[in-house]
Amino acid sequence: MRKALGGITLLYSIKCNPHPVILTRLAGLGLGMDAASQGEVLLAHKLGLAQEKILYSAPGKSEEDLAATLDVCTIVADSYGELERLDALCRRFGKKVCVGLRVSPSLSFGPGPFPEVLEGAPDKFGVPEESLACHIDFLRSLTHAQVCGIHAHVRSQVLSARALTAAFARVAGIARYLQNAGIELSFVNLGGGLGIPQGEEESELDLADLSAGLSGLVNSLSGNVRLYLESGRYLVGEAGFFVTPILDIKESRGKTFVYAPGLLNHYFRASFAAFMDSLPLEGFRGPAEPLWSGPGICRPMVFGKPATGRTVTICGTLCTANDVAARDVYLENVAIGNLLVFPGAGAYASALSFHGFASHTPCREVFFPEE
Ligand SMILES: Cc1ncc(COP(=O)(O)O)c(C=O)c1O
Repeated sequence: MRKALGGITLLYSIKCNPHPVILTRLAGLGLGMDAASQGEVLLAHKLGLAQEKILYSAPGKSEEDLAATLDVCTIVADSYGELERLDALCRRFGKKVCVGLRVSPSLSFGPGPFPEVLEGAPDKFGVPEESLACHIDFLRSLTHAQVCGIHAHVRSQVLSARALTAAFARVAGIARYLQNAGIELSFVNLGGGLGIPQGEEESELDLADLSAGLSGLVNSLSGNVRLYLESGRYLVGEAGFFVTPILDIKESRGKTFVYAPGLLNHYFRASFAAFMDSLPLEGFRGPAEPLWSGPGICRPMVFGKPATGRTVTICGTLCTANDVAARDVYLENVAIGNLLVFPGAGAYASALSFHGFASHTPCREVFFPEE
């Protein structure tokens, strides 16, 4: 990936999986960190990373969030109001800092992993690109929190290098616009969105095509501008497996139910996918990342002693009917004691689950050497 992205600094998105083993390993490989909360900034700071290698972008930061992170990361403001508050805070502390501004590009992606590139849509994140023209004077008027970078992120789980390149080119265009308006930029965070195929019918993102699309961008900006790209799930998603033992098997009115602990509460994404699969979703323009990437994901395999294959519904052990990870799926080797193994659980698995529910023991994350 680094070879494909020559000249671009890669930021690991901590929210995918904040386990210290992963953070330490990736920081050791020279990656910076994409932080989405004060807590994530402080995790990244503990790794000893320089301020410019921790980018903190999230909407609705509190004054306490800003004050606690000002000296250890690069804050990316999500609104003009936040920029104003940040400027006032820095003035009060007698500090001058370089900050970023999240911009919502005037394009959006249609549904699916190979999306059509559409016009801009109302956006929870950042300030609309179209609003920049009438805020240039405001940006110039900031005396203590000076905007020296921008950030954008259109959507996750995209497998089309063409769509991603279109978004990244748009972001570079916004940066050029600001530079031409006299705003000096030292960084541009292109965001991420690099997806992982869900199932055999989806093909992998072509990194060579993405690399070709990105190569021109590095040189299209004037001055010494550092380009960042956010790894998201791409780096860790396929490196993890969720493993849980079959504890019980039961027949009920013609269906076979298999029970395993820790589904909804340890691997929420699997149960939520099964829940979404059970809804009439016609007209839904999803996906709803990172909660749900689309129909039919999170299919487990079974490892252990040989046993007959059966069509089963895979249930967790919580007292809720929604603790179901898959309905009516055919599994080999269905036997008590065998292990259900869900691939693709390196990102948004434990990190996106609610371990506190019903006082079950939290799941453990275990790491193996590469070989
Ligand atoms: C700004 C930003 N960067 C990176 C990511 C993570 O990327 P991915 O969804 O590909 O894991 C997200 C996901 O929500 C995001 O909002």
